[in-house]
Amino acid sequence: DRPLRELAGRQLLIGTAVDHAAYTSDATYRARVGTEFNSITAENVMKWEVVEPERGQLDFSAADELMTAARRNGQQVRGHTLVWHNQLPAWLTQGVESGDIDATELRGILRRHIIDEVGHFRGRIHQWDVANEVIDDNGQLRDTIWLRELGPGYIADAFRWAHQADPRAKLFLNDYNVEGISAKSDAYLALARDLLRQRVPVHGFGAQGHYGVQYGFHSASEVAANFARFEKLGLETAVTEADVRMIMPTDNVKLQAQAQGYSVLLQGCLLARRCNSFTVWGFTDKYSWVPGWFEGEGAANLLDENFAAKPAYRELQAVL
Ligand code: XIL
Repeated sequence: DRPLRELAGRQLLIGTAVDHAAYTSDATYRARVGTEFNSITAENVMKWEVVEPERGQLDFSAADELMTAARRNGQQVRGHTLVWHNQLPAWLTQGVESGDIDATELRGILRRHIIDEVGHFRGRIHQWDVANEVIDDNGQLRDTIWLRELGPGYIADAFRWAHQADPRAKLFLNDYNVEGISAKSDAYLALARDLLRQRVPVHGFGAQGHYGVQYGFHSASEVAANFARFEKLGLETAVTEADVRMIMPTDNVKLQAQAQGYSVLLQGCLLARRCNSFTVWGFTDKYSWVPGWFEGEGAANLLDENFAAKPAYRELQAVL
């Protein structure tokens, strides 16, 4: 029974999001992160609300603990995430809402944030999710404080600042509902083209891969064909947050369908030419964002609450 990182070999990064609290408190979880994966993403502790809870007071302590663990485990780290509309510190959102922070100041705050954070981890982050979820499901730039206050140029700015702070990190666009070919992934293709035309340092396109068995999946060949469009522009691709949720309770049919969902994402990545990074958004149902975010849904991960392998885990082993 070989762990995923052993089966993946040298070409493929096989990663997981890591829950810092679970990593600290649960020895079984901690051990499994190390044995099973050769890449990690901080599930929350590199997000803005965590690293700058009070304005000007940076706190990278939790993220640094994960960095140390990754080094010990011989793991790469994906940085997540620099500009997003969620998990922003209250001082920032309230400052903008009240009018205390105007657009000029906000742009400086975003620049400072990116340079501070990317600079803090300089040389130690393999891929950064620079811009997260910046397009909505209709294919329009998402209506966020960034777009409203700074205009569409904030995306190019974010990549430029990140590149300045760590010229070796691969800089990614990242979103959900972009695994297949759709209005949303078309819009990303147009955005990527536009950024590259302006010589913006964008290096990768990440599809999060949040699936649900009740919605059905793409085919692996569609995922690969979608990724190929971005690769043709010169970008790398990645699956960055794979999980496959289901309406609870679980049963055999749903667990088999879930295995197929994971299989599509991994095969899609492996069929593509420049997808060398496949990350799951947590690996055990013991710790998952799904029940807290999708009412009545759960069991989205590869292992159950007792760390026993589900059909999805066996399927990934079989594909690798
Ligand atoms: C989620 C985390 O898993 C939760 O713990 C947190 O409460 C909210 O954010 N897309 C992303 C991730 O890019 O950062 C999100 O992570 C899940 C959706």
